Amino acid sequence: MRKKILAANWKMNLNLEESKALFKKFNQDLPDQNSLDYIVFAPSIFLHELSKETDKIALGAQNFYPAEKGAFTGEISVFQLLDAHVTHVLIGHSERRMYFNESNIFLKEKVNYARQNELKIMFCCGESLEARDNNQHLEFVKSQLEESLFHLSEQDFLNCSIAYEPIWAIGTGRTANENQIEEMHHAIRSWIEEKYSKSVAESTSILYGGSCNGSNAESIFSCPNVDGGLIGGASLKFESFVEIAIHL
Ligand code: PGA
Repeated sequence: MRKKILAANWKMNLNLEESKALFKKFNQDLPDQNSLDYIVFAPSIFLHELSKETDKIALGAQNFYPAEKGAFTGEISVFQLLDAHVTHVLIGHSERRMYFNESNIFLKEKVNYARQNELKIMFCCGESLEARDNNQHLEFVKSQLEESLFHLSEQDFLNCSIAYEPIWAIGTGRTANENQIEEMHHAIRSWIEEKYSKSVAESTSILYGGSCNGSNAESIFSCPNVDGGLIGGASLKFESFVEIAIHL
């Protein structure tokens, strides 16, 4: 049976004290459930400190640069993340694609670099509003996966999860409806089956992200191909995150 995953993407929020307190509370008080993994993608500057508190919550980085070391002012290497005991990385988030011009080709380099160094990947994909309105959402997401992720070997791919986050639903208060979500998740699983195998497709966790909260989590998680959530705004407070967790 595939794993369920509930991940928090804290983005560029919280100070050190707030992050430590929230991470500790997550570790202590989020419900323990069989085959549910929790991951927090924290701001890089706090990773080392948070790693001292890791218990049931895995620690993930929101970003890194795909080179061993060198003249990349302001960037963070995978080795620095490994030093901070990070086990997961987020790749392909729409904010990185949009504000930092991360292309499918560059994301492929990040994917390769992460796997060469045995980090687990949460790969984000999702269509623009324009693609959705033109009924091109499936092709849009398929090409993101084909151009950046589907070149991986089966063994490496098994260390990836996928987060479907329609760009128009992130931080906007608009969520995709259940039919839209299930259509995309089902399609993603069928592309994985075509590329790899039925058993790989069945064991890949596919998460939904985009304005997920305590009020809509139950209906989102009832979609048969949704295996969890990648949560932004509602992950910044224990109360709102736990309201989502109880529906998984
Ligand atoms: P949101 O963010 O839950 O605030 O929409 C989700 C994400 O960007 O991962």
